Amino acid sequence: MKSAAGGKEINLENLLGKTVLVIGGGGREHAIVDALSRSPQVAKIYCAPGNAGIGEQAFNVPLKDTDVEGLKAFALENKVDLTVVGPEASLAAGVVDAFRAAGLAIFGHTQAATAIESSKEFAKRLMAKYGVPTAAYQSFSDYEEALAYVAARPFPAVLKYDGLAAGKGVVIAQDLDEARKALADMLLDKSFGEGRVVVEDFLTGPEFSFLCFVDGERVYPMPLSQDHKRAYDGDKGPNTGGMGAYTGLPFITEEDREFAFREILCKTASAMAAEGLPLSGVLYGGLIKTPDGIKVIEFNARFGDPETEVVLPLLQSDIYDIFEGVATGHPVEEPLWSGDVTLGVVLASKGYPGHYEKGFDIGGLDNVDAKLYHMGTGVRDGRFFTAGGRVLMVVASGGDVLQAREKVYREIAKIDCENLYYRKDIAHIALK
Ligand code: AMP
Ligand code: GLY
Repeated sequence: MKSAAGGKEINLENLLGKTVLVIGGGGREHAIVDALSRSPQVAKIYCAPGNAGIGEQAFNVPLKDTDVEGLKAFALENKVDLTVVGPEASLAAGVVDAFRAAGLAIFGHTQAATAIESSKEFAKRLMAKYGVPTAAYQSFSDYEEALAYVAARPFPAVLKYDGLAAGKGVVIAQDLDEARKALADMLLDKSFGEGRVVVEDFLTGPEFSFLCFVDGERVYPMPLSQDHKRAYDGDKGPNTGGMGAYTGLPFITEEDREFAFREILCKTASAMAAEGLPLSGVLYGGLIKTPDGIKVIEFNARFGDPETEVVLPLLQSDIYDIFEGVATGHPVEEPLWSGDVTLGVVLASKGYPGHYEKGFDIGGLDNVDAKLYHMGTGVRDGRFFTAGGRVLMVVASGGDVLQAREKVYREIAKIDCENLYYRKDIAHIALK
């Protein structure tokens, strides 16, 4: 939009606000788009590829999240002020490097820094070198050597394929037989491709997620959250992408949080900077509270899903300022967070994470008095239908976990769809 004023051309779009592109198309990106839509500075949001629910708050762009050249061309053509990356696949494809080379501001890590997530061995080596607490480990490319190491350590043994294996590259072997099978699969049959295997000690205790915005050595913590990875109540059944999450973890003391922040998140950010791989996006610590203290299970180089959907609704600061500050290397004001807690439950297609059918109508959404983040929906004739394994996440807030939980389940009951299931026990650890 252009207009003439005093003989000068003024770009009204710039005056009216910023244009943002969000890369990705799941519940995590819906929560990011939702947070951006609360920013008074943001005038226009694109999401590539987005999804049916995101389409209510942003313009969906039919580009794959790994189509680096297509995304860059789109951002240049549409005068995007800032791009925010959701998925690790986009980071690993080098989207940040390509955007920066074209002079575009982007929130996310370089391809090289994404190794903190994409290579387990890189992450373990970094932690060992800088004294970040994690399970003892060794890494192998040779099957016989790996087996000999496993045989000499206590069981269970944790075997991790070194690479992005979509969460399927971790095997907890209870005995030597199971370890032999898994190692043969990874190192002899190369089921996940060419790669090494990290073998590490098994840790026990409750797991939790500590996400921070990181710009080099500046680390801005977000509220702690806990995911629920198993499909069914009581943490039974197969692993999924995550069936629910909440904030306000009662089993983590302020002292624990402070330790994790300083000795894990800040130390790792400094370590990455010292290695010449400064971070410029989200550092996600997948942590565990063991009897010997808090340790790292894994790092991710991005927002968690479904953690983002419970964390970002608590943000009271303008998220555009945070994204822009980190993307351009400028300090930002310490983000402010609501003192409430949130709890979110994922509605998944029956059969997920195995085979499931799609295309079922979802009714009643207009009556839901809670946040609704779409993970896998489509829309036809103005009605949403199921279009993925994880379909929707319903998120409510409250003064405590019990309040938030009661509200979420009350609101979910208003949703009418014959092919959805969900866990009834999200935050069970908090309510024991
Ligand atoms: P990762 O892909 O490294 O996050 O591993 C996936 C899941 O496996 C984690 O969320 C844990 O539940 C489990 N896991 C991984 N490493 C360990 C470990 N050293 N001890 C116990 N459980 C682990
Ligand atoms: N919530 C697990 C993940 O985002 O990897």
